[in-house]
Amino acid sequence: MSEIQTIGITNQKGGVAKSTNTINLAGALAYRGNRVLAADLDPQGYLTNKLNLRDAYKADPPSLFDAMKEPTEHDVNDLAVEHAEFDVLPGNIDMFRLEQDLIASGWRPRERLQMLFDDLEGYDFVLVDAPPSLGPINDNVLLACGDIIVPVEAEDTSILALDHLLTQIETLEKRYEVTVSERGVIISNVNYPLDNEQREMIQWFEDTFDNRCPVYEVRHRAAIKRAMNAGGSIFAPDAEECDMIEVYDRIAADLEENHE
Ligand SMILES: Nc1ncnc2c1ncn2[C@@H]1O[C@H](COP(=O)(O)OP(=O)(O)OP(=O)(O)O)[C@@H](O)[C@H]1O
Ligand SMILES: [Mg+2]
Repeated sequence: MSEIQTIGITNQKGGVAKSTNTINLAGALAYRGNRVLAADLDPQGYLTNKLNLRDAYKADPPSLFDAMKEPTEHDVNDLAVEHAEFDVLPGNIDMFRLEQDLIASGWRPRERLQMLFDDLEGYDFVLVDAPPSLGPINDNVLLACGDIIVPVEAEDTSILALDHLLTQIETLEKRYEVTVSERGVIISNVNYPLDNEQREMIQWFEDTFDNRCPVYEVRHRAAIKRAMNAGGSIFAPDAEECDMIEVYDRIAADLEENHE
């Protein structure tokens, strides 16, 4: 049986399209025939709510929050729910308490998501939508995944954000003797025509990551927004035509290539 590929979609900077990329990449991988789980680790639950799982977000315990608090007491497979395109591990409003709880309990709690994921069954890919913070939830995502995709914006504020993220990754790699690999940078929500800053930034990302991982570009598209407002990705059967399908399909194909 092939291993599950677990990929964190992470950047502590807010609003850089983490959730949008998670949904559409999950859609692309599922469309290509993979068994996919999209996990929502952001307490704000944007992915869960966009995928019309508001009831799960507001549901009584046990939720992902309880599983993250006591991983040995819960089976993560029981928390996954079906969605039209792929399965979802929904976030829950209780997750707002998780960061505090993890901070209060030292270093080991950074491996709780990994413990939960060790029991996952029946998936080819797990994509994890990370929260917009560099706290212990994001550390859990980085350690549970080992592979990451980093969405960025074509703005110079993204350089500093990336610097902080890569520093945190180095800290975790040393502390836990693990390797976290970048599988791609997605310059997201790019609006044409480009101004000078955007052009320079795109060039900077391409030069900086040239030898490390692919750099993709996803343009701003109303069709992406409309698909999410309809509760799915641009790969959903009822979604309208969108030229960004090609980009997400290419990212999915690149991820499959590593999948043994
Ligand atoms: N390619 C795109 N085309 C159109 N809209 C987009 C695109 N990418 C992102 N957006 C919009 O930009 C906003 C921010 O995206 P999203 O919520 O995915 O970012 P995020 O990084 O998950 O945010 P947060 O840090 O709050 O979790 C959303 O309203 C989303 O619909
Ligand atoms: Mg988000």
